[in-house]
Amino acid sequence: MIYLDNAATSFPKPEAVYRELDRFARTSLANPGRAGHRMAMAAEKTLDDVRHALNQFFRGDAPERWAFTLNCTDALNMAIKGVLNDGDHVVLTDLEHNSISRPIRALEKAGRITATRVVSRDGYVAAEDVAAAITPKTRLVAMTHASNVLGTVQPIEAIARAVRASGALLLIDAAQSAGVVPIDLKATPIDFLALPGHKGLYGPTGTGALYAGPRADDVIRAWREGGTGGDSSSELQPSLRPYFLEAGSPNVLGVAGLGRGIAWVAERGPDALRKHEVELLQQVVDWADRSEGWRVAGLWDPERHAGALSLFTPEGISPQELAGILDVSFDIAVRPGLHCAPYIHRNLGSFPDGLLRLSPSPFTTADDVAQCLEALTAITAGVM
Ligand SMILES: Cc1ncc(COP(=O)(O)O)c(C=O)c1O
Repeated sequence: MIYLDNAATSFPKPEAVYRELDRFARTSLANPGRAGHRMAMAAEKTLDDVRHALNQFFRGDAPERWAFTLNCTDALNMAIKGVLNDGDHVVLTDLEHNSISRPIRALEKAGRITATRVVSRDGYVAAEDVAAAITPKTRLVAMTHASNVLGTVQPIEAIARAVRASGALLLIDAAQSAGVVPIDLKATPIDFLALPGHKGLYGPTGTGALYAGPRADDVIRAWREGGTGGDSSSELQPSLRPYFLEAGSPNVLGVAGLGRGIAWVAERGPDALRKHEVELLQQVVDWADRSEGWRVAGLWDPERHAGALSLFTPEGISPQELAGILDVSFDIAVRPGLHCAPYIHRNLGSFPDGLLRLSPSPFTTADDVAQCLEALTAITAGVM
């Protein structure tokens, strides 16, 4: 199988991740508890170690500011529903994944909040446009760092400065950038950073994290309430971080694997990993330029690109048909359709059929991409 669907979840994972999942499951899979037996305490230490690793990797304020989540969607919901109050205004963009746009739209439709959706140009959102959308009622600016459809990387440093100057909170969806594009929380005033553990950080599915910075301390509500492994006498969710946002038995096995994934990425560095993916995507861009009927969606700027790219397909064959043939006849996995991001497809004119998305990883080779492009050439030769 040639796997070009890493924007959905990365595959394969580094060997060290597989080894750790196996080792941990066989030796250490107790329920973490600070006051428990040695095995539970060892499991708790794993959570702490990975929190430290996340904090170091993204240069956060403190390890306790990281709460483990089920995925990026969970982290985004935690921040969005945790801080918004009736009457608030939210700014988002047309690049958002449904994991931002749906919770916000639901609150908007219920008449509880108002929202402004900033329109991107060629896949990029301008900091001035975000700043212009902010009103005195804006409580939250929620937006993606890198588009999961186009791979375009947004200027979050300039956006973060504009949001901070306004007093609003900033939530960044790092689903497509964590591990691929450097993010420095000390240098960039981001209040919430939501990320999956299972994409560019190479943990297993079922992992994710939310960073909640100091400005969130007095405003965020607990997303779920329940057991935290300590402070059991308290009638209410203990306010101690990170347990405040982490009720219930955590996915400690997944987090153990995630720890190895973060170490693997840190050793190589996001810049090197992104460079490899962008070089592979350049191959796709060059092929599309010389292939009749194919067109790259959005502006291709390798300096501001993460590891995903979508293509308009030739007339007469839909992205879904192409992906189906690639899968069944060529053993190649790609992602057709709307990619859970319908607004940007409306902007691009690719709604409702969507586009064909290719997303390589550090494990993808130039030959893998060449085989995929040859297959696309062969399939479309029959219909054009
Ligand atoms: C931009 C973006 N945001 C959020 C998500 C949701 O991530 P998860 O699958 O970890 O919930 C995705 C998933 O593809 C995404 O691409």
